[in-house]
Amino acid sequence: MCGIVGYAGYEPAAPFLLEGLQKLEYRGYDSAGIAVFSDKVRTMKSQGRLATLREKVDAAGGIPGSLGIGHTRWATHGAPNDINSHPHSSMSGRITVVHNGIIENYIPLKEELVSQGVVFRSETDTEVVAQLFDKLYDGDLVGTLIQVLGKIRGSYALGILCTDYPDTLLAVRKDSPMIIGLGEHENYIASDIPAVLDHTRNYYLLNDNEIAIIKADSVELLDMDRNPISRDVYVVDYDISAAEKGGYDYFMMKEIKEQPNALRTCIGSRIDGDDIRLDKIRLTEEQIKNIGRIHIVACGSAWHAGIVGKYVIEELTRIPVEVDLASEFRYRRPILRPNDLCITISQSGETADTLAALREAKANDVHVLSIVNAVGSSIARESDDVLYTMAGPEIAVATTKGYSTQLAVLYLIALKFGKIRQTISSKTEAKLRKALEALPEQIENMFADEEALKVLAKQHADKEHVFVIGRGIDYGASLESSLKLKEISYVHSEAYAAGELKHGTISLIEEGTLVVAVATQDQLYEKLVSNVKEVKARGAYVVAIVKEGCTDVEGIADQVFYIPDTDDIFTSTLTVIPMQLFAYYVAIERGCDVDKPRNLAKSVTVE
Ligand code: G6P
Repeated sequence: MCGIVGYAGYEPAAPFLLEGLQKLEYRGYDSAGIAVFSDKVRTMKSQGRLATLREKVDAAGGIPGSLGIGHTRWATHGAPNDINSHPHSSMSGRITVVHNGIIENYIPLKEELVSQGVVFRSETDTEVVAQLFDKLYDGDLVGTLIQVLGKIRGSYALGILCTDYPDTLLAVRKDSPMIIGLGEHENYIASDIPAVLDHTRNYYLLNDNEIAIIKADSVELLDMDRNPISRDVYVVDYDISAAEKGGYDYFMMKEIKEQPNALRTCIGSRIDGDDIRLDKIRLTEEQIKNIGRIHIVACGSAWHAGIVGKYVIEELTRIPVEVDLASEFRYRRPILRPNDLCITISQSGETADTLAALREAKANDVHVLSIVNAVGSSIARESDDVLYTMAGPEIAVATTKGYSTQLAVLYLIALKFGKIRQTISSKTEAKLRKALEALPEQIENMFADEEALKVLAKQHADKEHVFVIGRGIDYGASLESSLKLKEISYVHSEAYAAGELKHGTISLIEEGTLVVAVATQDQLYEKLVSNVKEVKARGAYVVAIVKEGCTDVEGIADQVFYIPDTDDIFTSTLTVIPMQLFAYYVAIERGCDVDKPRNLAKSVTVE
């Protein structure tokens, strides 16, 4: 979603801003702009890709100045065009802002300003902030900001320039991420660490309702009463190359290939001899024994991980699990009891609906354990306990290693809770632990099918509809496989619980329709094979994904991919691999921008 970057220093700001925005491209955007202040604020904006903005800036011979803000916009209010792009300035040009989030009451504020003679240029909610700021401005920058914040409602991360303060960049956040990068004789703001990771490893993580006054040689943090805040410096310890493509054409392929190592770190660091250590979570054994119900809440692929997690946790712990989309959970008055546990899952740790769901659970005194990738993100900070997925930065919009590591953490939770609650024997636990540890190498072996999947993608890249069917855990995994295809190749794809086929979907099967059948559950295998026969009889081209050894399916399906043998409850980690590769190559065949699919955002920070 929208990205912010800002610079206060002594070097030219424009190249820094363009480079930072490039690092944020993965979040998804449809226009971009920068504003740099020297004798006056000069703003350049452009619809479409960042390259177009860069050309504009180059054609103008650059923009002078060492103080500036930049933005990649993902349109919410007003079309994605040059005018609606950020930064936005007030009528007088004194105030310029970039904004992530949504100002919910912008319409009445705008009407009031218009009635006072303010002329708006854009259709955005953001311009209201610039115009309102200017209207209220009394020479006191921070004081005026506090007044503005008292009037606006919604979510925001704001970067602000004022022509009366030629050395100052102002930043504030509420429900939208913002970090302050600490450099030498220069400091930065950004909505996401990778934007400025080339320049510093030291950060202040800004909390809601905190203001940062940023200059080349100082950063001051204040609360809403203007009291200074002291903050520990957060030092990023991941390798910078982890946020670079490293020889791959796309981040997505790099991240698919990083899954074995990501899982090794995620699982390996938590297995201690014959025990599983869930970091230092505060949830006690006593509390785990008394959990009445688990609510897993998430969005997108994280929700899909949750659906698989439900099967695994219920199987191993016998605790009832409900899985909710965060956007539904937050508004449906969920029934939450004190001994329930809420597990929120989020790669970015910033998804607006998941954050709101977490707050809903906490407001009901329910313990929240979060599974998060981005260290120090809002969801991580607001949860009672966090288990990090340790996947490293994930850049491609379509998640791969984020999803696999979320699954792995859910498996670890299920095993640990099962052991504590004695719903699985030590022998079973030991056997499953071994199976879990084998997954990274098994994925590595599955990469051998890449060429065959590439060929399959070539053959089916023109398909308009694809169905992915499965039962039980395989249905959960099918949802994620289907989403991968939809997200990056724009092929209409649906996942179906195979038992539901006859209740509608089978009417859509015709000659040549591609059906991917996932059948890894011993107990359900034969039923799924029957479903395969049903769609075959109606002309479908069937690709089966089964466990090694299930060769009988070769006579029924048109093509078969095998996953290495593992326990039934862990198969989702393996079945998704061929589908990630298939989706990738279909997207390549169709000429799609794999890492930055149209209309999608990596981090959905508005609801
Ligand atoms: C977006 C991303 C998805 C992701 C979902 C939830 O839609 O494109 O890949 O699964 O948000 O994001 P989260 O960061 O909360 O896991």
